[in-house]
Amino acid sequence: MTSASARMDRLDPHKLPRHVAVIMDGNGRWAQKRLRNRIFGHEEGAKSGRDVVRCCRKLGIPFLTLFAFSKENWQRPASEIDALWKLLKRFLASEVDELVQNGIRLNHLGDEEGIPDDVVAELRRARDATARQTGLCLSLAINYGGRQEILKAARDFARDVQQGRRRSEDLSAEDFSRYLFTSDIPDPDLLIRTSGEYRISNFLLWQLAYSEIYITEILWPDFREPQFVEALLDYQSRSRRFGKTGEQILGE
Ligand code: FPP
Repeated sequence: MTSASARMDRLDPHKLPRHVAVIMDGNGRWAQKRLRNRIFGHEEGAKSGRDVVRCCRKLGIPFLTLFAFSKENWQRPASEIDALWKLLKRFLASEVDELVQNGIRLNHLGDEEGIPDDVVAELRRARDATARQTGLCLSLAINYGGRQEILKAARDFARDVQQGRRRSEDLSAEDFSRYLFTSDIPDPDLLIRTSGEYRISNFLLWQLAYSEIYITEILWPDFREPQFVEALLDYQSRSRRFGKTGEQILGE
């Protein structure tokens, strides 16, 4: 038995999160420490992405969301942005077969507008090719921002009110959620952020309301199955109260 599967054995299969969201941070620093360019760090980071996807599949975690390109990432040097699009396109093209074989459905969170046409085409192709898969829902947040998502939802709701389809007084949090990119997926139970930054960085602002947060100093390219299992073990030690007292939760 490998040490990683030994760690996996320590997990309680009844207390796994349904949805894990990840801010994959630290690729640039990982590469710079090795005197390599930042792109090399992103390439290695993509391997960590693959590892975590496989681990979710093995464990039967049904939803995984990876923050791959934020609205704020547009401020990076053009050469890095260009390389990230190339990497994402290659990742999507090369993974489609494995996604289908492993029952993984690919989902996109974010605005298509602004993403280069060839990447949008690859995204749509991967989404359509995997649409009927039911094993793991892998969402890639690409050209995504949490505030932008909430504003878009508010505009779409206002339009429905104007056109007489909805009444503003009836709007509940659950209804509002249906206007978000995540309308068909549950809120994350666990948010993982690598590289030791204590920020949410405009990621899933609405959906993270009650998520457990796990922050590790490990840089994303070094975050593989054993580190993911460690995060899950930590999650399993948490007491999730959703605003209630510990006694109330014990009595449920
Ligand atoms: C953060 O590291 C990482 C990104 C902005 C890009 C993440 C994209 C990938 C890992 C490639 C695609 C992978 C998948 C699985 C779809 P950083 O550049 O901010 O690092 P730094 O903080 O050290 O500079």
